[in-house]
Amino acid sequence: MRLSGWLSERVPRGVNVPEAGMAALGAQDAIAEEACDAAERRAGLPRPYYEDGGIALYHGDCREILPLLKRQSCHLVVTDPPYGVAWRSGYRKVKFEVMKGDTDPGLAVEATKLALRVLAERRHLYVFGRYDWDGVNVGRSAELIWDKNAMGLSHDRGAWSRSHEYITFLCSARPGEKGRGGTPARLRRGTVLRFGRVNGAAVRHPAEKPVGLLRELIESSSRMGETVLDYFAGIGSTLVAARLEGRRAIGIEIEERWCEMAAERLRAGDE
Ligand SMILES: C[S@@+](CC[C@H](N)C(=O)[O-])C[C@H]1O[C@@H](n2cnc3c(N)ncnc32)[C@H](O)[C@@H]1O
Repeated sequence: MRLSGWLSERVPRGVNVPEAGMAALGAQDAIAEEACDAAERRAGLPRPYYEDGGIALYHGDCREILPLLKRQSCHLVVTDPPYGVAWRSGYRKVKFEVMKGDTDPGLAVEATKLALRVLAERRHLYVFGRYDWDGVNVGRSAELIWDKNAMGLSHDRGAWSRSHEYITFLCSARPGEKGRGGTPARLRRGTVLRFGRVNGAAVRHPAEKPVGLLRELIESSSRMGETVLDYFAGIGSTLVAARLEGRRAIGIEIEERWCEMAAERLRAGDE
C-alpha cells in the first residue's frame, strides 16, 4: 500500500503499515487508522471533472461524493440547493428543464448534514433558501435577504412580486455544542444584501446567482487560501467567486451539462 501526501507525513518513515500492522504503531494507532480510512475513502473519489489552481469540481450526486471528502477539510459552505418546488420559468422562449433534485424538499438538509463532516468546527454556512434545521448540529442562525432589485419569479402572479430570496446563515458546531462561529463575519452589518440578479440573455442556468453576492459571503466568512465548499454547484458561480477572492474551492454538481459550463467559465477566467 502506497502512503501518499498528508497520510505519509503522519506515519513514521520506514514503517510499512500493512506489514507492521496498525497495532505496531503504538501511540500513532488512532491517527494512522483514521488516515488509512480516509486514504481509502479518497481512493474512491472520482477524478474531478475540472481541477486547476486550487479549484476542483466533481460531477456526481453530492450525497455520494461528500462522504468521500476529507473530514474538516473545508472552511466555509456557500451553497444554493434546488428550490424543492419543481420551478420552471414561464417566460423564457427556450425553457430550462426542471432542475435535478427540484422535487425533493429534503435534499438540502440531507446534503448539509453530510457537509458538516467536511466543514471545520465553528465555521460558517450560507445555504440559499429556508429550511427546518431541527436535529441538525448547527447553531446561531440568521436569515439574510438577497434583494434582487428586480421583480421576481414569473409564476408568481400575485399583487406583490417577490424581488428577494432568503439565505440561511448557520455555524457548524462541535459535537454536543451549538455552533458559535469561530470566524467572525468581516464586519457587523445589516441582513439585506443588494445585488442585481443575472438577467435576460446572460442567464445560463435557471438559478444562476450573481458572482458579486457570492464574493461578499466568501469574503465575509473565510480567509485567503481557505477552502469553500458548494455541493449544489450549478454552473460554478461559487467557484468563480472563490477564485476571485483568493480562496480554494470544491464544487459538486450532478448534471454534466452544468459541469461543462462551469469548467468553461473557470478556464476562461470568467467573472
Ligand atoms: C439552484 S442550482 C445552483 C445554481 C448555482 N448557484 C449557480 O449559480 O450556477 C442547484 C443545482 O444543484 C444541482 N443538483 C441537484 N441535485 C443534486 C445532487 N444530489 N448533487 C449535486 N448537485 C445537485 C442541480 O443540477 C442544480 O444545478
